[in-house]
Amino acid sequence: MASNLETLASIDYRPPVPRTFRPGIGLIGCGGIAVEHLTAYRHAGWEVRALCDVRRKAAEQRAQQFYPAAKVYTDFRDLLRQPDIEVVDVATHPMERPPIVEAALRAGKHVLSQKPFVLDLDVGERLADLADARGLYLAVNQNGRWAPHFSFARQAVARGVLGKVFAAHLSCHWDHTWVEGTPFERIRHLILYDYGIHWFDIVRCFIADEPVEVFARTAPAHGQRLKPHLLAATLIHFPTSHATLAFDAALQAGPHDRTFLSATHGSLLSHGEDYHHQRLEVRLAAGTWSPRLEGRWFPDGFQGAMGELLCAIEEGRPTSINARDNLQSLALCFAAVHSADTGQPVKPGAIRSIDT
Ligand SMILES: NC(=O)c1ccc[n+]([C@@H]2O[C@H](COP(=O)([O-])OP(=O)(O)OC[C@H]3O[C@@H](n4cnc5c(N)ncnc54)[C@H](O)[C@@H]3O)[C@@H](O)[C@H]2O)c1
Repeated sequence: MASNLETLASIDYRPPVPRTFRPGIGLIGCGGIAVEHLTAYRHAGWEVRALCDVRRKAAEQRAQQFYPAAKVYTDFRDLLRQPDIEVVDVATHPMERPPIVEAALRAGKHVLSQKPFVLDLDVGERLADLADARGLYLAVNQNGRWAPHFSFARQAVARGVLGKVFAAHLSCHWDHTWVEGTPFERIRHLILYDYGIHWFDIVRCFIADEPVEVFARTAPAHGQRLKPHLLAATLIHFPTSHATLAFDAALQAGPHDRTFLSATHGSLLSHGEDYHHQRLEVRLAAGTWSPRLEGRWFPDGFQGAMGELLCAIEEGRPTSINARDNLQSLALCFAAVHSADTGQPVKPGAIRSIDT
């Protein structure tokens, strides 16, 4: 039997790639983040055959830059009628997404939805039911799971090397003021919700227990001009474990990003100046292991999420980023937002929708 250090040495944290499956992909929503999607897909050799945006110029520009042979549409229904599209990647904002996801499923396409998946858990459940009823995949682009350090940490936990994780402490100290004047500035809980969803999701990869309650607070940072609060802190309480998330999004210099897991067999520390540049170390009684991490969250994470969906379809197995699972990450996130609004601890799942 392999020792824990041998298991750590064998972890492949890189984005998964299907063996032979190369379906036609259609991308709906060609805004800012679409660049990361298309960079990752082109690098992986995947076939994007159609692009759609209500702003024709945006879709044309992305086509020209990445997939010049792809068809360009301004109405997503036209893209859904293209018979050689098997997988639809929806990268609009969440408000516009449910009717697009529903139409794609009704057109017989597998779907990868950008995060945050939905604004209402019941809407998300109905979409997951529709996918199941049609025998289709509905996955959520929780690409942080394939940021190299998170991917390595997830696998170290999943393979039991750390034993049982009883604490996860994650903190991000960075400058998020680039959103000034963009639609993101209008998101009231920009940090806990739009940004934080990746962290609520990754905590669930580290601690699989059912969370009992969430407590969160937000505040404006000293001197901030942006409308959404840039300081947010969350405590997630599980029966025999806990997690804390600290976000300081107004930092103008000296950024830092840190993940620490306390577990029954030892600890895992990953840290660096941001989530792209991380040094990771696992410390066990048997010794210490520090992998050489290559790649970055952007764009490797985007190859990871689409790669996981394509591999799942190819192998005929459920995908780990399925919509139903994602609703549990959203339930944590919605509970944190409600707690920040009310000053009270909240049971995850009690808050079904969010008003952004
Ligand atoms: N790490 C990540 O995964 C990550 C990072 C950034 C953004 N996002 C998410 O991606 C989503 C989009 O973010 P963005 O920065 O690209 O926003 P954006 O505003 O730059 O782009 C959204 C695009 O969708 C288009 N659109 C709107 N309605 C449409 C419709 N009905 N049909 C076709 N196109 C339509 C808009 O014209 C626009 O070009 C958001 O949910 C955001 O939270 C995820």
